[in-house]
Amino acid sequence: MNIIVTESYEASAAYVANMISELINRKPDCKLGLATGGTPVPIYKNLIEMNRAGKVDFSRVRTVNLDEYCGLTGDHDQSYRYFMDTNLFNHVNIDKANTFVASGIGDPAANAAQLDAKAAEGGYADLQLLGIGNNGHIAFNEAGDKLIAESHIEQLTESTIKANARFFEKESDVPTTAITMGMRSILAASCVVLVATGAAKTEAIRQLICDGAVTTHNPSTFLKLHQNSYVVIDRTLAEAAGYKG
Ligand code: PGA
Repeated sequence: MNIIVTESYEASAAYVANMISELINRKPDCKLGLATGGTPVPIYKNLIEMNRAGKVDFSRVRTVNLDEYCGLTGDHDQSYRYFMDTNLFNHVNIDKANTFVASGIGDPAANAAQLDAKAAEGGYADLQLLGIGNNGHIAFNEAGDKLIAESHIEQLTESTIKANARFFEKESDVPTTAITMGMRSILAASCVVLVATGAAKTEAIRQLICDGAVTTHNPSTFLKLHQNSYVVIDRTLAEAAGYKG
């Protein structure tokens, strides 16, 4: 696991946007695994600016997203399809036919099977972007006694529902289940890049970068088993987590 400590979250976002644009420039038809949440927003802003400046071309890029809330249609303003359209896809020259966000509507088993098929189609992601939950979740693979390899429907934990309530009018509006890519497809990516900032992530990040344990109680720790994984954090978070470099 490569641990990158930057001076600020802004610098982390620029660092990861550069990783992504370098990949696209090296491999114009690359496949990106993309994430939602507050953390990736500045990364996507950087990519939009680079695209506008002619520094990166999305015309042949393919994308697959990690997850989607159950019960929200793609035009709901809290759905992850809507998030991706409004935070990235609508502002760059990507072909939306080359983007995939799982459906949170309809037959859950069929949707989960489709997500795994899309993750595998033409090869797994060249780069998988990840945030991390306060409880160490990656995508919506929640912390607990077991993890599931395949894509599946996950019951969201209290911690996740509370953390995501800030995006909704009230906590009771947050869906309690979501479709998520399973651990296998995430870890099958050629490169996995986890980005984090903020005091709420301190304990999850400490477990990820300051001890050797791999545990289902912090799903991000499985990145320790990946040959080409990166954790990108700012100095404030690194110091809070007790990282000594
Ligand atoms: P956040 O979410 O970026 O909004 O903190 C991260 C996550 O839950 O994976």
